[in-house]
Amino acid sequence: GQRPLDVHPAWLPPEAFRAIGSRRTRVLGDGPLVETVLSEVREACARYGGVARHGGVMGHGATGDEPDDLILVLSTVDAVRDFVPAGQPLGEEGFTLAARSGVTVVVADRPAGLLYGLFELVRLGEAAFRPERAPESHRPAMRRRMVDQWDNVDVHPVMGQVERGYAGGSLFWRDGKPRRDPDRLRAYGRLLAGCGVNAVSVNNVNVHATEAHLLTDRLAEVAEIADVLRPYHIRVHLSVSFASPITLGGLPTADPLDERVRAWWAGTTRQVYATIPDFGGYVVKADSEGQPGPFAYGRNHADGANLLAAALAPYGGVVHWRAFVYNHRQDWRDRSTDRARAAYDHFAPLDGQFHDNAILQVKYGPMDFQAREPVSPVIAAMPATRLAVEVQVTQEYTGQQRHVCYLGPQWSEVLGFRPWGPDGPAVRDVAASPGGAASPGRAHDGGGLVAVSNAGDDPFWTGHPLAQANLYAAGRLAWAPDLDPTAILDEWIELTFTPSSTGDPDLLRRSLHEVMDGSWRTYERYTAPLGVGFMVRPGHHYGPDVDGYEYTPWGTYHFADRDGIGVDRTVATGTGFAGQYPPPWSQLYESRQGCPDELLLFFHHVPYGHVLHSGSTVIQHIYDTHFAGVEEVRRARQVWERLAGAGLVDPAVDTRVRERLDEQLRCAEEWCDQLNAYFLRKSGVPDAHGRPIY
Ligand code: GCU
Repeated sequence: GQRPLDVHPAWLPPEAFRAIGSRRTRVLGDGPLVETVLSEVREACARYGGVARHGGVMGHGATGDEPDDLILVLSTVDAVRDFVPAGQPLGEEGFTLAARSGVTVVVADRPAGLLYGLFELVRLGEAAFRPERAPESHRPAMRRRMVDQWDNVDVHPVMGQVERGYAGGSLFWRDGKPRRDPDRLRAYGRLLAGCGVNAVSVNNVNVHATEAHLLTDRLAEVAEIADVLRPYHIRVHLSVSFASPITLGGLPTADPLDERVRAWWAGTTRQVYATIPDFGGYVVKADSEGQPGPFAYGRNHADGANLLAAALAPYGGVVHWRAFVYNHRQDWRDRSTDRARAAYDHFAPLDGQFHDNAILQVKYGPMDFQAREPVSPVIAAMPATRLAVEVQVTQEYTGQQRHVCYLGPQWSEVLGFRPWGPDGPAVRDVAASPGGAASPGRAHDGGGLVAVSNAGDDPFWTGHPLAQANLYAAGRLAWAPDLDPTAILDEWIELTFTPSSTGDPDLLRRSLHEVMDGSWRTYERYTAPLGVGFMVRPGHHYGPDVDGYEYTPWGTYHFADRDGIGVDRTVATGTGFAGQYPPPWSQLYESRQGCPDELLLFFHHVPYGHVLHSGSTVIQHIYDTHFAGVEEVRRARQVWERLAGAGLVDPAVDTRVRERLDEQLRCAEEWCDQLNAYFLRKSGVPDAHGRPIY
């Protein structure tokens, strides 16, 4: 009896449950998560005419009922062994899927596994009901698959309700008060569970004065959120301020080695667990962009992280300690300071000093979520530390959910990157749990994947309806980081878009792939070239401004002059950043010849006439890719129009997407004009094809 929500169903529309809802399903097991599974099945059956049964006896006709088509069962039930021979333990969240003589069975050791098994059936649709299927077991590669909200309680004067949010307001708070919209929140939790996410940090990493109180006197608001998300196996985490002992506790210090400070965190954390027994833990941004941290007391970040880890340990909680620490008061004339180096310089020497329940949360690149960066060298530098990789689903630097930019391929490249060379482990192995993917040389648990959420109270959840695919892909990659991003997109299309009986379903699929598959590379083409990054308007970061950040204190420079462009980060003549990688990457990045084109300007300052591996010069590459990027957006818009013209998309989705594609085209043209004109004037080199440059 839930009231229908006036929001887009994203990847879990009722139709996605048709195959299950039209069959006879038996659910065997008890407990809150089993209740969730059961209510999903019941709702589907009510809609599509199937039958949902709870309990009874597994197998045929024992109770005189018609035989089951589908059984979701815990492995503790004896009869299950006739179906699926006991194999490797499935763990907290894994499941086995099998079919015999026309009966499909999902077996799990624990209720959460049944929930994920159910969503796997939803993804498979009719294909889940083949009469025979050899048992296949699924386990998540990463234990913690987390979404970080950057939501504020108060409307922040500059950042608004959600920092870097492009999808309306917060799902949790509005104007300083809890929203208390459990239906909407439950729907969000359901979508997250449907793509494999199992943890949510509810508030902004920049913890302002009001938000700091969520830890203490406003904890009830967090508990309410936890209550709503729990039935979908999602644990709640909280961003806390390192200065809390002072601002909330009235102590004169927040020094991590001070006994009063330790006692304050222990007592406060005890209270948190008394209120929310399955609380996940803390997220901390310390000594970063103005947030307080251990440096004020002459302590290092292991001291800081371990303080909170110790408070959380008795309850099984974890602290996610962010590695995004750098000097944001730089002078562009000072060529010895390099923001890209900062995280490694601060953290690599601390490897091995973090407690087991401290997870170092590392942005995928050394700068800040640009469309193209090398993988952060921190990931290869701390073998004795649990590392989580952080990606930005909210499109701060990738078009702010006005541009189509499917980021699955970017994350997949990052996760597949092998920092130690082709024979070493990949980034995904570092973040994974042993027993998940192979994690050579790492006996301990990896820290998982953390995704900064792109969702808000927008009716389409994500502003741009096609940006839903990014949230879906982030969850799926945390579960199975070796999935092909195109295949993930396929799943998303299949689930999200109801096939119409009249239209051509293949046209729908083909067109969406055409618009989305290459959209990240398209975005890269019409924005900042060859890995140099930024060139965005300061503050809000939307649209082009080549010199917008060039003389600011943020450390984000491209050093373009009349002779050349790029940042010399070599060991030989530059900042030395290239030397933070293990070989072979340190050597490849060090040399202009070895460095991949797409990262050339991240590592080298080169003349405009420098010839790339592609055969083009740097300046001609800038012209060509900018013109090409605009053309690709124009083409995407035509493809979309053809698709919508064929009546294959919901009119509300069509209107929203069309409006955004118009803006994307306008903005891409602006990028093209500004970048090409800037570099034409700087370099004095004309376009080889004589195209007009404004
Ligand atoms: C970016 C972003 C900030 C955010 C920061 C972070 O710099 O612009 O809004 O706070 O990342 O990840 O901490």
